[in-house]
Amino acid sequence: MFEAQVQQILSNPPLAIAAALALIVGAVSLGKTVLSLLTLIFDIFLNPGLPLSRFGAGQGHWAIVTGATDGMGKCFAIELARRGFHVLIVGRNPAKLDAARAEIRAANPDAEVRTHQLDFAHATAAEYTDLQTQLEALPSSISVLVNNVGVSHDIPTPFHLESLERIHDIVEVNINAMLRITHMVVPGMISQGRGLIINSGSFSGSVPSPLLSVYSGSKSFVSTWSQALGAELQAKGVIVEHLNTYFVVSAMSKIRRPSFFIPMPDTYVRSVLSRIGVRGGSSVPFTSSPILSHALANWTVDNFFSRQFWVMYNYTMHVDIRKRALKKREREAAAKQN
Ligand SMILES: NC(=O)c1ccc[n+]([C@@H]2O[C@H](COP(=O)([O-])OP(=O)(O)OC[C@H]3O[C@@H](n4cnc5c(N)ncnc54)[C@H](OP(=O)(O)O)[C@@H]3O)[C@@H](O)[C@H]2O)c1
Repeated sequence: MFEAQVQQILSNPPLAIAAALALIVGAVSLGKTVLSLLTLIFDIFLNPGLPLSRFGAGQGHWAIVTGATDGMGKCFAIELARRGFHVLIVGRNPAKLDAARAEIRAANPDAEVRTHQLDFAHATAAEYTDLQTQLEALPSSISVLVNNVGVSHDIPTPFHLESLERIHDIVEVNINAMLRITHMVVPGMISQGRGLIINSGSFSGSVPSPLLSVYSGSKSFVSTWSQALGAELQAKGVIVEHLNTYFVVSAMSKIRRPSFFIPMPDTYVRSVLSRIGVRGGSSVPFTSSPILSHALANWTVDNFFSRQFWVMYNYTMHVDIRKRALKKREREAAAKQN
């Protein structure tokens, strides 16, 4: 039966050409998928990435970390101090800045740790000038910048119902803060011929997230801008690494317990710093998904189903999260009244 069908196709030249083309396209597409999975496995298990010594670790250089009083930012500051950088952390809450400073010093008593208070959501031009003055007063050069600070919607919210205040804060914190600090730091990195800029992105920047539309759009900006900046700076010795991050346990994600797909922030940050310049599961230039679970999730999104499918998957997920968040708010309001 099968042989008869093959004979029939071969005896009809247009059908035979179409079948051969379909086979070639199928083989190329399967080959690309398999190759990308093999690259992921190589990157995650074997590729050591660039050593931090290339960016001045252990040589008295400074790392700047924004939003470093909690979550991944604090972990970046601790881990960079542990790996031989002096650290300047920027955050909005003086008490949390002092507490973070103490934690960083405990991780490496030899590291100098400075703090700078700034609320990125409402920072004025004069306050940015103050920050620049503090950066210029550092006793040695800045070779690492972690643009970590980020805010999202409080709960998934349709765009037309979101407050203009929240929309403003997301744009200021996720986009403008990153542009302004990077603009202060890059000239020094270019003149010393080395530097590392890590930009915190998100899966919601690569696959649009309905009901988190402003956050999603801001992270899409981070992705596009990082790729363009990465290409501009690579010949000057400055590496730009955009992180395509899935969920991590944190105040922002409101997830408290880790799982295979949702690591603790310190685990995530260690995987980032151990694989600088390594794409992991990402197929996008200057972008990395450096931890196995996120790399597999990134690979799955890139290789299976359509963009429309993933957008609607996010939509359904966020409609459900919104329903539960609104019910929780109702319960909390009722409990307050009683
Ligand atoms: N967690 C995730 O699942 C996830 C996933 C993808 C991407 N990301 C990205 O990863 C980055 C870090 O997220 P995270 O989960 O670690 O967040 P987090 O635990 O909520 O920490 C955010 C940090 O930013 C600071 N911050 C917030 N608004 C600020 C403002 N207006 N001015 C100054 N500092 C401010 C916070 O300060 P306070 O201590 O004062 O609040 C805190 O130190 C963000 O860019 C986020 O978009 C996170």
